[in-house]
Amino acid sequence: MKDSIAENRVNRRDLLVGTGALTGGAILASAGFSGAAAASGAPVKAQLPGFDAAAGEYVLPPLPYAYDALEPSIDAQTMQLHHDIHHAGYVRGLNTALTRLAEMRASGDFGLVKHWSRQAAFAGSGHFLHTVFWTNMAPAGDGGGGEPSSELAESLTESFGSVDAFRGQFSAAARSVEGSGWGILAYEPVSARMQVLQAEKHQNLGQWGVVPLLVLDVWEHAYYLNYQNRRGDYVNAFWNIVNWQNVAERLSEASR
Ligand SMILES: [Fe+2]
Repeated sequence: MKDSIAENRVNRRDLLVGTGALTGGAILASAGFSGAAAASGAPVKAQLPGFDAAAGEYVLPPLPYAYDALEPSIDAQTMQLHHDIHHAGYVRGLNTALTRLAEMRASGDFGLVKHWSRQAAFAGSGHFLHTVFWTNMAPAGDGGGGEPSSELAESLTESFGSVDAFRGQFSAAARSVEGSGWGILAYEPVSARMQVLQAEKHQNLGQWGVVPLLVLDVWEHAYYLNYQNRRGDYVNAFWNIVNWQNVAERLSEASR
């Protein structure tokens, strides 16, 4: 059982690269890579449909089928508006947010970091999730619908008990998302299993699709005994104990 999950893990990486899920692009952005880095020979992942490594910008990937290809399940006008207007807006928003954040790093003035971090989370999650979403669908009878392959069915059964049980939970989760959001089947690397999640909106406050490399716990339980309300002192002290080697290893693993 474990072997098939491990194989799926590899297959998943291939799939993500092939379909343009933006793990790599997001990592490149968060790690400060850019088109210049690509030109200088820095270790940059193969170009993905949602990210133009040469330009150092996110781009709107084309739909992998015609606007009307998913009818009658989803009509052509909805697809056109959704992709050309809404998704394109996320791409623009993400590029703008990351440009503003780069300007802050250059100037040292981080006064608006909260605002632009929120914008990056909102637009980034929108871009990454939509890029996956388009490739998660195909015309009925031409790759769309039917049943999962026996290999995927086995993995779903390992995680959820059965394919039907997964489908039931996924449908219920998607139906009951409060307000705007997503139903999401996600791979959870700690246990090497899959989970079904709901995302209310999608910007609170992470980017779906990124891989954490360096995290700092700023819940009060992490510092209050020593620092009380002086969170800034705790954050400053963190840099005295950060394990850069571990960060480098995580970046290497995630961007392979
Ligand atoms: Fe959407």
